[in-house]
Amino acid sequence: MTELSRTKHTTLSLQAMRERKESIVMVTAYDATQAAHAEAAGVDVILVGDSLGMVVLGYDTTIPVTINDMLHHAKAVRRGAKNTMVLVDMPFASYHQSVADTVRNASKIMQEAYADGLKLEGGSEILPHVQALVQAGIPICGHLGLTPQSVLQFGGFRVQAKEMDAAQKLLDDALQLQQAGAFMVVLECIPSALGALVTESLDIPTIGIGAGENCSGQVLVYHDVLGLGMHHRRPKFVKKYATLGDSAISALTKYKDEVKRREFPNPDYRYDIAADAISKLSNRAGKGENL
Ligand code: KIV
Repeated sequence: MTELSRTKHTTLSLQAMRERKESIVMVTAYDATQAAHAEAAGVDVILVGDSLGMVVLGYDTTIPVTINDMLHHAKAVRRGAKNTMVLVDMPFASYHQSVADTVRNASKIMQEAYADGLKLEGGSEILPHVQALVQAGIPICGHLGLTPQSVLQFGGFRVQAKEMDAAQKLLDDALQLQQAGAFMVVLECIPSALGALVTESLDIPTIGIGAGENCSGQVLVYHDVLGLGMHHRRPKFVKKYATLGDSAISALTKYKDEVKRREFPNPDYRYDIAADAISKLSNRAGKGENL
């Protein structure tokens, strides 16, 4: 697929990639420029993650993120990447009240952001919601392991399912999500052997983030890949492919220094006006005439 002529992935083409053991590449994006970068790089899926709250909006967790926040950013991502599958996170507590509320919230995101599917965190406790969304025709991606919307219950951002019982629950949850109709499951921050076991046990793709190399694909946060973040923690599973945050600070410092020294803008960056026009204008101004 070339970048210009490529067709968007579907749930079926991702399933076919899993069957061919071709790794699925997902990255987050939060605005049109980032989405265009991801599309130009040829990633398979863009996730408008609620990590938005931490890497863009400056919160300490994803909990304060609202449906309106997600919509605002998801619409921009859609405009920036028309030919890439875009999944959108349902934010905190937007799928924990009645099933009817969940379907209403999900439909709003699908219809207003032209999303290709939604991602929800959790296992057995959200199955009725997943089933209702699938029945409504919405492609649903699950998310298990370190589910950041539950960080306060976990007591911090820490590796999950390291003990037998928790690992068994995670495996059962993954199977139940598949049974409920989820087309894919994200596995975050779990032992890599468990990531491999869940991937082998499911018939749908798994996408790992800190879940080892044997998942059907991988996802990372845009700011982490590019080394853009200033304040949020960088977990062990993040590989930085660039240090754009440092480059941004250095460029902004040069800009500030040049403006302070009046070196910018030099003639290369100015607009001209006919010399006689400006002298007439300044004569008039000198005589106090209206300009
Ligand atoms: O919100 C997010 O960015 C995510 C990914 C890290 C999986 O859920």
